[in-house]
Amino acid sequence: MATAATHQTARTLAHDSQDGTQAGVDDTAAYERAFDAAVAADERVEPRDWMPDAYRATLVRQIAQHAHSEIIGMQPEANWITRAPSLRRKAILMAKVQDEAGHGLYLYSAAETLGTGREELLDKLHTGRQKYSSIFSYPTLTWADVGAIGWLVDGAAITNQVPLCRCSYGPYARAMVRICKEESFHQRQGYELLLALSRGTPAQHAMAQDAVDRWWWPSLMMFGPPDDESAHSAQSMAWKIKRHSNDELRQRFVDICVPQAESLDLTLPDPDLRWNEERGQHDFGPIDWTEFWDVLKGNGPCNEQRITQRRRAHDEGAWVREAASAYAAKHSASGAGRGVEQA
Ligand SMILES: [Fe+2]
Ligand SMILES: [Fe+2]
Repeated sequence: MATAATHQTARTLAHDSQDGTQAGVDDTAAYERAFDAAVAADERVEPRDWMPDAYRATLVRQIAQHAHSEIIGMQPEANWITRAPSLRRKAILMAKVQDEAGHGLYLYSAAETLGTGREELLDKLHTGRQKYSSIFSYPTLTWADVGAIGWLVDGAAITNQVPLCRCSYGPYARAMVRICKEESFHQRQGYELLLALSRGTPAQHAMAQDAVDRWWWPSLMMFGPPDDESAHSAQSMAWKIKRHSNDELRQRFVDICVPQAESLDLTLPDPDLRWNEERGQHDFGPIDWTEFWDVLKGNGPCNEQRITQRRRAHDEGAWVREAASAYAAKHSASGAGRGVEQA
């Protein structure tokens, strides 16, 4: 087995090779061994390191899907900004939706470090060649949905994403650190919103319960298909992109939510949900995977609306991109950035 020093040598040679200075294609096997050893040693893979094509492709696919989910996820909640019941709630919700745009930005930037541009990824989203999380194809019918999304959807996102802070690919892992901090704020605001409704009038309590009833099962689906049907899981875990299986994370989420639901004085819509003394975890009922696959294929209640709105936002933002490019070109042509002050 290679030592740490040899990993470094092979990885450094790979850098040199990319610069066209040394090392040939015959060294691929050595790079591969160095890459495997580095991952096994929990070293971070950085953009200029050699990496297998399949590792790069897997990361681009996962990061893109994650980025798309962040920006599509802005829509169901932004739907309620103008109807927030108080200035305080409106300010919180605006900050939250803006955070999601920021998450998209960090993630598209992380994908760019793998050599795939934002234009290309957005084009794939707009033409249905890349997906976003199934959860965002459900409608937000009442104000309580904003609370249920914060508590359950952002809560599920945190459960999924905290282990990604230790992902083997450096830029993705680092983006996740900040994202998780912000998701934690999102989860608490949702919980606090639901708590206020739950302790309010009977009609408000009923509204909170109805939202939880509708969002619970789609939230459990956010962890992806069961382990034995998850096409990419095993390889992603071997590469340390993923650290826990879909089913493990789903179980962890259920165990976290049950006591929180009790504190909220709300019930979770699952008659099979109960503590299993032997396993030290909660048992829960079967998930309707037909619904999951159907929504993912584009047949959810809001798929069409979400993509139409996304395309419109992209088209309407063309002038911003053009202005930013023109400004950057002018800025670099005039010597700014090399220490020349602008008049
Ligand atoms: Fe987010
Ligand atoms: Fe969030």
